[in-house]
Amino acid sequence: MGIDIKEQLNEKYAEANNYAKKVLSLINKENDAITEEDASWITQETVDNFRDYVNPGFLDYRKSVTKDKQFAAVEWSDEGDSFKDVNGKKYIDCLGGFGIYNVGHRNPKVVQAVENQMNRQALHSQDLLDPLRAFLAKLVAQITPGDLKYSFFTNSGTESVEGALKLAKLYSDRSTIIAATRAFHGKSLGSLTATAKGVFRQPFFPLVSGFRHVQYGDIDMMEKTMEACALTGEDVAAVLLEPIQGEGGVIVPPDDYLPKVRALCDKYGALLILDEVQTGMGRTGKMFCCEHYGVVPDILCLAKAFGGGIVPAGAVVASEKVFKNFFPNPFIHTTTFGGNPLACAAAIATINVLIEEHLPERAAKMGAYMLQGLKEAAKGHEDKVMEIRGKGLMIGIEFQEDKIGYEFSKKLFDKGVLVAGTLVNAKTIRIEPPLTIKKEDIDQVVQTVADALK
Ligand SMILES: Cc1ncc(COP(=O)(O)O)c(C=O)c1O
Repeated sequence: MGIDIKEQLNEKYAEANNYAKKVLSLINKENDAITEEDASWITQETVDNFRDYVNPGFLDYRKSVTKDKQFAAVEWSDEGDSFKDVNGKKYIDCLGGFGIYNVGHRNPKVVQAVENQMNRQALHSQDLLDPLRAFLAKLVAQITPGDLKYSFFTNSGTESVEGALKLAKLYSDRSTIIAATRAFHGKSLGSLTATAKGVFRQPFFPLVSGFRHVQYGDIDMMEKTMEACALTGEDVAAVLLEPIQGEGGVIVPPDDYLPKVRALCDKYGALLILDEVQTGMGRTGKMFCCEHYGVVPDILCLAKAFGGGIVPAGAVVASEKVFKNFFPNPFIHTTTFGGNPLACAAAIATINVLIEEHLPERAAKMGAYMLQGLKEAAKGHEDKVMEIRGKGLMIGIEFQEDKIGYEFSKKLFDKGVLVAGTLVNAKTIRIEPPLTIKKEDIDQVVQTVADALK
């Protein structure tokens, strides 16, 4: 009996090991060594395994899967402003991984820094002082506005928001947090409470107590809510906002909104948390979007492009006044992998590239060029396109109906341009290419958009 189980286990592991070896042999192959037979095996296995082991729901949702679910475009390699599927078809990436690829796909400087760091030490001991975290924290203090100074490093956007909420709760004995309609801050329980879309939130009620949502961009509503909170003794600990709402459909607030929110926070003794997970690292034409408005938050959340599109990385950055509550016990909020040497090497190289290659300025210039081109392309199609808007290379195309947006993005995908809807507002397609996108690729995207609208 014992022997049978052992044999069964041996067989099970032998099968798993053969499968692992097959996959490793593909990973270790040069791109041009992938044969047609490899490509078709990879495609079929991917579809089958999504159905059987990942989540079959994705097969209905992903636009790269054909209707009969037999064939799919499976991504395999990337470089610059585009990626290729396993059959070698190239796509200009105007989705940018929802805003990850500000310095481009596999930026050579970022890859080099990460490779060099990996060859020395990949992860940290967790006990000694780790130098890369210290270097990166100083750099972040140097590039962020105002008195933002101390950083807690994370692995994702939602973690950055969780860290910010905890910092705000430690700062005072208040517990009311004001967020906005159409906000997206992530999907772990704290950040999800601030996120505004019902379908993501409702199945998980009750969420964290003390949160309220006000209309984004409506300063009167913000003021009345803060006043009401003060009168009822539910004083506001923090206001949490995106300076431009990304997933809400690339919503740019009125120019005086953020400065007025800042003033209200000061009046009522509340902290201002800006979630720049998507708008940060040069995306909107400044290193941080709040700089367009001359506003300095008390807490800044970063992630997505912070790791240079190579290593997942994020940060919660705060002024000393706020962050000092983490000083007495630095273990009050921790994460094993946040601020690991690979992530820090990637973030340091990313900041270096953003500065040296003037990518925020480039985003402003190329963004204005692209916005103009897209508006021209949409002329005469007002029956389909409601509005095209944005700042820098964060652009949204709002359609009259969800259905048109979906058809449009599928059409673009077939023609080798990747775009996608936004999570909170399905009517809006986002255009968020790498900030390094070539001018001729912008022209090609605009032409493809013009053709698709016809
Ligand atoms: C503004 C904003 N905050 C937070 C998040 C959550 O980031 P993550 O998916 O890395 O948890 C996102 C993701 O789209 C975002 O756009």
